[in-house]
Amino acid sequence: MARHFIDLFEVTPAQAIELLDRAAELKERDDPAHRPPLLAGRTLGLVFDKPSLRTRVSFEAAIAQLGGSAIFFRGKDVGLGVRETIGDFARVISQYIDVLAIRTFSQEVVEELARSATIPVVNALSDSAHPCQAMGDLLTIRETFGTLDGVKLVFVGDGNNVARSLAQASALSGMKFVLACPQGYSFPADFSARFAAVYPGVSLEIDHDPVRAVQNADVVYTDVWASMGQEAEAEIRRAAFAPFRVDEALLAQASRRAIFLHCLPARRGEEVASTVLDGPRSRVIPQAGNRLHFQKALLLWLLI
Ligand code: CP
Ligand code: NVA
Repeated sequence: MARHFIDLFEVTPAQAIELLDRAAELKERDDPAHRPPLLAGRTLGLVFDKPSLRTRVSFEAAIAQLGGSAIFFRGKDVGLGVRETIGDFARVISQYIDVLAIRTFSQEVVEELARSATIPVVNALSDSAHPCQAMGDLLTIRETFGTLDGVKLVFVGDGNNVARSLAQASALSGMKFVLACPQGYSFPADFSARFAAVYPGVSLEIDHDPVRAVQNADVVYTDVWASMGQEAEAEIRRAAFAPFRVDEALLAQASRRAIFLHCLPARRGEEVASTVLDGPRSRVIPQAGNRLHFQKALLLWLLI
């Protein structure tokens, strides 16, 4: 059976460390003049139903740097789930390519693909999870502090895909995770229940007071208030989330060594002030860069 990477609930702490160590090693040893073609002849399919800069380009660059190639298409180009079933699509595409990354809305679609495909399936973002983002972020945090153990990450914003994967990544790596969000924008009950079952004894702290939440934070993280697919809710969300904007005053409440992270793309002046995004504590550009190194490690883990 093929190995998949669709949700961090299915990744063990040992596997997470193995992936991070591999990513760090690939980054450290990277020499553009000599990149061993470890995945020569292998093909990565990328099927996206939502826009992307970082995920798409870093996956295409990752497979190219490992000697393989990528094929990108939109779900609507092939009529995914419309022209034929997800299962038929998965069984057919498994005949042509070696690994498939999908960005879509429903996590169930990603899971159905993984059930039917005979090749590894990667979740390149769904409404519920963004595991590649969270694992790349662990690399950035570990590079900054030299460890993940005991590092306090406060996610200020919506209990969305990125927040959920970061909560899981924190549980996997010994970080302390807090979600600071308005009432009504916390994690869904089924996520919290599964989190409690998979990580018994790990607290999933929710705080509706952003100033209290960020006290002693080592990492202050935010993301857009309305994710892709929630555009119709943008106005109502702007009002609800206004007290949760990460500005210099909020960041000043965090630990003196605190860094600021954002998965990007950012809406400057909404969830984050430009002075924070461009400020001395921001690590958002190297953070985006680490997506490449993590995904190289991931492709090797799935294919070799
Ligand atoms: N952070 C992230 O996944 O960015 P893209 O949506 O541009 O891929
Ligand atoms: N929560 C955001 C993340 C984008 C990378 C979204 O889903 O739109």
